Amino acid sequence: MRPPLFDKNTYMDQARALLAKFNSRFHSAAKVYRAPGRVNLIGEHTDYNDGFVLPAAIGFSCWVALAPRDDRQLVLYSENFDDSVEVNLDDRHLHATGKWSDYPIGVAATLEQAGYRLPGANLYIAGDVPLGAGLSSSAAVEVSTAFALMDAARHPIDLKKLALLCQRAENEFVGARCGIMDQFISCHGRAGNALLLDCRSLDFQLLRLPPQIRLVICNTMVQHKHESSGYNARRAQCEEGVRKLSKVYPQMRALRDISLSDLESHRSLLSEVVYRRCRHIVTENARTLAFASALRSGDTAALPQLMTDAHRSIRDDFEVSCQELDIMVQLAEQQPGVLGARMTGGGFGGCTINLVEASASDAFCERVAQGYAAATGHYPNIYVCEASQGVGMADAS
Ligand code: GLA
Repeated sequence: MRPPLFDKNTYMDQARALLAKFNSRFHSAAKVYRAPGRVNLIGEHTDYNDGFVLPAAIGFSCWVALAPRDDRQLVLYSENFDDSVEVNLDDRHLHATGKWSDYPIGVAATLEQAGYRLPGANLYIAGDVPLGAGLSSSAAVEVSTAFALMDAARHPIDLKKLALLCQRAENEFVGARCGIMDQFISCHGRAGNALLLDCRSLDFQLLRLPPQIRLVICNTMVQHKHESSGYNARRAQCEEGVRKLSKVYPQMRALRDISLSDLESHRSLLSEVVYRRCRHIVTENARTLAFASALRSGDTAALPQLMTDAHRSIRDDFEVSCQELDIMVQLAEQQPGVLGARMTGGGFGGCTINLVEASASDAFCERVAQGYAAATGHYPNIYVCEASQGVGMADAS
């Protein structure tokens, strides 16, 4: 299968600029690939519970220029970190070092372990996904690198498999227990669309976003330290819920498999905290499906309440929001032309997602920025985005 090509006009300049930089570093021609970051509209922490998520790819991306080599060396240069790293693909002891290069090297090692032999290559990596903001800069690096390496090796690319391998690289090589959402949307995003993903079957449906709506992402500029331990603790609590509830529901494999009334009837099996974690997942799955059907039928009036309920649930039941995120959401909800506001991604800082009428988006950005700065002392970054295309090769000709 030929890799999908981007819309020539949209990305040609960026692709050409990257080629020029590649050439001055590695003195050869190269091909250019791009994979996007993402924003999740609704369905938070449901992916690792076999549930439903509804993300969209965004215009912020990771770009990789790659030229194969005749040996098995991978020479990686990161523009963002102004650092280069070199490894050999025959090295059986490749391991994480806590640096940016863990992501591309982890992906290469995982592809090789899965039986995809790769050539050595020179790679120039440059990304504009804000780092540490919960917009999946890591998935963008993984997916763009994996796609570039597979294309260089002329292996046929199955995007579902590619997403799963990138997730495996992050879980096993990097050591972060993320779900499948970020890598999947970076592979399958479509301009103008959100994507409803069933994280159990990996069946998905593209849902057109109303053209007058902008995805406005407000970055709180804070990321609390316990982010990854908090994430792992939430996963463990969900797993505990499944273990206890499966005594009465032996068929149950994940929180996806029970209804709210099943959960309520057996609440006494769970500690108060685990019960609330489970309640978030069960109600969030229902909200995500309701949100998808509202998008399908053009019923935008249903969206604000679903997003408000989702934020409340992640704040009170799942407890991964924080003061800065709550302030940002509250400010957003007071603005005209807003069709919903909530925190997005793993939580403990990062960004909120706001659906805003295009005509109201300038005023929205200004007023939320001012209000947030006044309340917290941090000046937020606010990005007005549209849903973008997933991974592909960029035509710079
Ligand atoms: C992070 C993870 C995803 C998902 C979200 C929460 O972004 O990488 O897999 O679990 O948190 O929805």
